[in-house]
Amino acid sequence: MTNTPTSTNDRKPKRIGILTSGGDCPGLNAVIRAVVKVATNKYGWEVYGIPYGTDGFIDLLLNKRHPEELRIKEHGYDIPGLVQGLDILHFLSGSVLGSVNKGNPSQHADEILQGYEKLGLNALIVMGGDGSIEILNNLARKADELGKPWNWVAVPKTIDNDVPYTEVSVGFDTAVNHVTQALYDLTFTAASHDRVMVVQVMGRDAGYLAMESGIAGCSDAILIPELTPILDENTIEGICQHISQLRWQGRRFALIVVAEGVKNHLGQKEHYIGDYLANQIQEYSSKLCGTGQPEYSNLDKIDTRVTTLGHLQRGGTPTSTDRLLATAFGREAVELIANGNYNQMVIWQNGRVSSVPISHVVEQIAIARKQKIAPSRVEPHSFLVCTARDIGIYIGERTGG
Ligand code: F6P
Repeated sequence: MTNTPTSTNDRKPKRIGILTSGGDCPGLNAVIRAVVKVATNKYGWEVYGIPYGTDGFIDLLLNKRHPEELRIKEHGYDIPGLVQGLDILHFLSGSVLGSVNKGNPSQHADEILQGYEKLGLNALIVMGGDGSIEILNNLARKADELGKPWNWVAVPKTIDNDVPYTEVSVGFDTAVNHVTQALYDLTFTAASHDRVMVVQVMGRDAGYLAMESGIAGCSDAILIPELTPILDENTIEGICQHISQLRWQGRRFALIVVAEGVKNHLGQKEHYIGDYLANQIQEYSSKLCGTGQPEYSNLDKIDTRVTTLGHLQRGGTPTSTDRLLATAFGREAVELIANGNYNQMVIWQNGRVSSVPISHVVEQIAIARKQKIAPSRVEPHSFLVCTARDIGIYIGERTGG
């Protein structure tokens, strides 16, 4: 795909589109707000919100929607009464544009490209995770082949935090906070009943959400696909031994975080891997206790409970970190367009916002897909993993004793 950035800002008024694709997460609307503010205040452009991802282009083509309906004004959506002018988009979670995470837009590439053309867009900002970025990139290729217009930049968003090249994606921090809060809330009921609380956390094939919230939430064990891809007997035994040690030390309850991407002992995906894990812990601890070895004598009354946090992890008002990231990403996306620097994804690296060619991102995604792993993964030697290990969290390794 050819993309030659213009050397200076092209000051001609532009018409840009913005859409959200894939699963929602907190912070999407804050990106929209920032884009609208920078595009309209700084450049005097028009911004159009495309409803339900690329489906919105098809609706436009079929005249199911009128372009003027899609125009987003500076303050997002007008709110009547005393709160008129409230910058509501900054705080709202979900996507006011709607989003779609199923279907295959490639099958409707022609209609989507025609819809883009019909709206007369100069450029499009896409907020998406790995899957959406890959799909939209295929559309961009198709446009290139057909000589159709399709200028785009991507903004990474996902609570899984698994988009390559960016250290963090929009929505992740809020999700980490939710899980951390849930662990805190579970601590006292766990302690009151001497229970082992297993908490199943989202993240698809990546363990970032489980690892960061597990450390922040004071958990005793964190199981992530990068370190414990399957719950084999060794891992279960390790957890039970860890729980036993904790009990001898006086901590009679335990918090175990398991990422949804961890698989059962046969390497199969379980919808409720938390339940599976709790059963395994229950059974194995009885077995260990039955050996009569004194170190396991405290395991006989282990009582497990499971919490699957589910879509609560995608809700709530975005944290300040997510609002800041969303705002900085939104601004950068507009700046890329102003400079004619298309086919780029904005990223956060080393404390600042920049961008990388989408082709690089897509390359990494394709490699990961072949290997059936997350495109960005928790590195086994990362500071996160070392931190967890060194403070005594069980991460699938024997801690001795
Ligand atoms: O990718 C975000 C995510 O929330 C994953 O963590 C989770 O596995 C998946 O989406 C859930 O998807 P759905 O909303 O379709 O159930």
